[in-house]
Amino acid sequence: MRALDVAPRLDRLRARLDDAGVAALIVTNLANVRYLTGFTGSAAVLAVTSGGSGGSGGSGGSGGPGRALLTTDGRYRTQSAEQIASARAPVEISIGTTQAQRDAVRSLLAGVGPIGLEADHVSWSDSRQWGELLGDVVPTSGHVEALREVKDEGEIDRMAKAAAIADAALQEVLPMLAERVSEEEFALALDTAMRRNGAESTAFETIIAAGPNSAKPHHRPTPRIIAAGDPVVVDFGAAFEGYRSDMTRTFFVGGEPEGELARVFAVVRDSQARGVAAVAPGIGCKEVDSVCRAVIAEAGWADRFEHGTGHGVGLDIHEAPTVSQLGTATLAPGMIVTVEPGVYLPGTGGVRIEDTLVVTEDGSRPLTNFEKTVAVV
Ligand code: CO
Repeated sequence: MRALDVAPRLDRLRARLDDAGVAALIVTNLANVRYLTGFTGSAAVLAVTSGGSGGSGGSGGSGGPGRALLTTDGRYRTQSAEQIASARAPVEISIGTTQAQRDAVRSLLAGVGPIGLEADHVSWSDSRQWGELLGDVVPTSGHVEALREVKDEGEIDRMAKAAAIADAALQEVLPMLAERVSEEEFALALDTAMRRNGAESTAFETIIAAGPNSAKPHHRPTPRIIAAGDPVVVDFGAAFEGYRSDMTRTFFVGGEPEGELARVFAVVRDSQARGVAAVAPGIGCKEVDSVCRAVIAEAGWADRFEHGTGHGVGLDIHEAPTVSQLGTATLAPGMIVTVEPGVYLPGTGGVRIEDTLVVTEDGSRPLTNFEKTVAVV
């Protein structure tokens, strides 16, 4: 497995901060902290000063330009030192109480401004506290998230591994669908199989939705017994070294679907295949959504596809870019997105099919490779 390329990320962030006219960024989102430093603990703040050309006081403080300080508490003294050394991230560490951590950040950023907060992740009360501590704070949005959109080779390898674990786990437990187990029992078996195959955890709470429940896109598993004739939506993923996979398959228990659900399955299958074929560098995320939506609209179910076509995946299960009518990003090599159209008929059932794809130089490559089997007998 190729290594994660953590060390250059801070300088990429600094270039963005310079462009935005921000002299420093307080990173409080833990996935962003992990991305920039390699540190995986459950509590940390990362203060990053820009390259120095942005803002008004970039070189005026005691910190000066181009520094990064991770603050955390005593529980993570050893772990933070080990992980940051292993990532070769140019980051200083300060360990202490909450007050000591704040003092360390204030000292680094003395005279520096404006200082960006991650507006999408900071609570109202936290933003007020940071303002009282640091003075010139401003809201910023999406700086680290934009870097995270394009994965390096090490990240792609970990996501491919997560997806392969999920594929193998589903292969193992799929026959259970025909053995009159409940949604909950099947979810537990699938989750356990992922762990046995090397997942550190599930990527998110597994969705098993059988019969009429399959018409609820984000149904939670219940004691309902999965029976012959049921459509079963299986939406799940594995996490491996922090990186997540995401895949959905819809199966029919006891044989091929009949009637309206047979048509729903064929339309969703076609919509998903066309969406996958559209994924390529230079294509807008909105366009991929339009391709999937057009197939479903043509079949007369435009109002039964009530969610976006997909999303970025990585350290978070849902991250930039958004693949929907609201998606403004253009696909580029190294981005990883899902394509997951669905049609849901309340009272009857639903179908969703999803793959996670890495954008390549000339198209895309699926990381999720489980066959799109229809019938489980
Ligand atoms: Co998804």
